Amino acid sequence: MRKYGLSLALALAGMGALALPAAGASATATSLPHLERRGEATQLIVNGRPFLMLAGELHNSSSSSLAYMKPIWPRLEAMHLNTVVTPLSWELIEPRPGQYDFHLLDGLLAQARAAHMHIVFLWLATWKNGMSSYAPVWVKRDTGKYRRVIVRGRPVEILSPFDRATRAADAAAFAAVMRHIRAVDGQRHTVLMMQVENEVGVLGASRDRSPAANRAFAGPVPARLLHYLETHKTRLNPDFLRYWRRQGEKTQGSWAQVFGQGARAGQIFMAWYYARYIQAVTAAGKAAYDLPMYVNTWLAGHGQPPGMFPSGGPEPFVQDIWRAAGHAIDIYSPDLYASNFSTWCRRYHVNGNPLWMPETTNGPAAAGNVFYDVGEEYGLGFSPFAIDTPFRYHLPHGREPWNFGAGGGYQLPTLAASYQMLAQLWPRIAERETHGQVRGFALNSWPGKTEFNLNGYRVHVSLDEIFGHRASTGFGLIMADGPNRFLGAGRGFKITFTSLKTGEPVGLAWVDSGHLRAGRWVPGRRLNGDEDEQGGAWRFDGMKMHLEKAEVYRMEK
Ligand code: DGJ
Repeated sequence: MRKYGLSLALALAGMGALALPAAGASATATSLPHLERRGEATQLIVNGRPFLMLAGELHNSSSSSLAYMKPIWPRLEAMHLNTVVTPLSWELIEPRPGQYDFHLLDGLLAQARAAHMHIVFLWLATWKNGMSSYAPVWVKRDTGKYRRVIVRGRPVEILSPFDRATRAADAAAFAAVMRHIRAVDGQRHTVLMMQVENEVGVLGASRDRSPAANRAFAGPVPARLLHYLETHKTRLNPDFLRYWRRQGEKTQGSWAQVFGQGARAGQIFMAWYYARYIQAVTAAGKAAYDLPMYVNTWLAGHGQPPGMFPSGGPEPFVQDIWRAAGHAIDIYSPDLYASNFSTWCRRYHVNGNPLWMPETTNGPAAAGNVFYDVGEEYGLGFSPFAIDTPFRYHLPHGREPWNFGAGGGYQLPTLAASYQMLAQLWPRIAERETHGQVRGFALNSWPGKTEFNLNGYRVHVSLDEIFGHRASTGFGLIMADGPNRFLGAGRGFKITFTSLKTGEPVGLAWVDSGHLRAGRWVPGRRLNGDEDEQGGAWRFDGMKMHLEKAEVYRMEK
């Protein structure tokens, strides 16, 4: 068993799903894109089948013009993307109150379909990067009706989550968008998911000090929140739990009495009110068309106080507050540009929250990180930011390119190559991950190593090295492929196996390169000699991407 705390609801949902007819049967083929727990993984089901979003997020302003977008789609298709994550702004959808303009939305759908692509829309509405620049001008102008956050006594360019009029206007526009998507895409399923707002939270202070916010802060902490905290103590974020305990673990009182006076109290307070607002907007959208919906997070930098990063966004420290505030939001996601990629993935892949990476670093790092994300965390998909900017590659600092990869010259590690490989492997991954039989890794610095149990063996992965030549990065995944057999993909690493019972090394019976054609394994070269270290290690050299199968054996006594 791997690492999930399964809620009863998810478990029941998963059991129900498993009882459905086989993928492709009419009952599932017509269902909406939805999340489903299948064994050890939560999967996005599209047209009855698990779907892996091999995605990328556009620059913020690209999709505001269909003409600008036109030449971009074929480039993205050539990079093996199957999904584009694209802004859809409130200002362009509702230029005048109550008058909706869907021509951009319709045009983007048509362009995506022509390029055989799916879409995840970013509903940039009340907030984007903490600020409110994407709200329509009739909202921005009317500060009497649509009130602002107050920081150091002055209203700032951030709409206040305490304002019911703003919330109602945003929810109405979002519901109209979802009704329209249902009408034009309810049978096609080009649109897979919706992001509601973008990187929310107060910037410049830990909390809003508008009159409405001050009144709420002086009032009692809502009983619903405290009840949730009390009844979920065993699964609360450990840093949050420690903080609450240090404040006396009180179960009633004002915000300051329960959570203290400092910036953390402000962050917890804002988390509750942003969450209440966005849960309501999300619920309004879902009532119109029930697609999976998520909220993304601007992550705190090391040691930064709330306010330096948007205070109240669903950072791990306050994610439980968001969960206590409602059930409409399906996923909380990190926007992950930090170098400790796996640590942040694990912080979000907890308590039944599936990992969806809506924004992350592009370039060679992405080529490797996607293997960790999909292979190790069973991610729903991966989406580097600024995907419409051609990435300029630099040769890695290590010893590549060197010439011990028989069968072809050095190829740069690209996201396109990783996506192409994952697309080929996905049906196998989708099936194997439900049994917890897939592991992924991205090794970034010497001596990069990892090890784990899989298919009855201890698997030792390290950066590739032969005759003193070392790979400087390595990434890939490996899965069980029948008794004693493994299927692996990636580059720049090698694998040895030991017996789980004795700890003794286990031999390689054979290693084949190959590919999958319509899901069937087509073997290529038998790899031996230098290619498998004379039988000593299963090597995936750093020259290019590999797909290989291996069998291990134990000596009979
Ligand atoms: C994070 C935001 O969510 C994106 O929309 C974009 O502004 C990037 N930052 C810029 O790097």
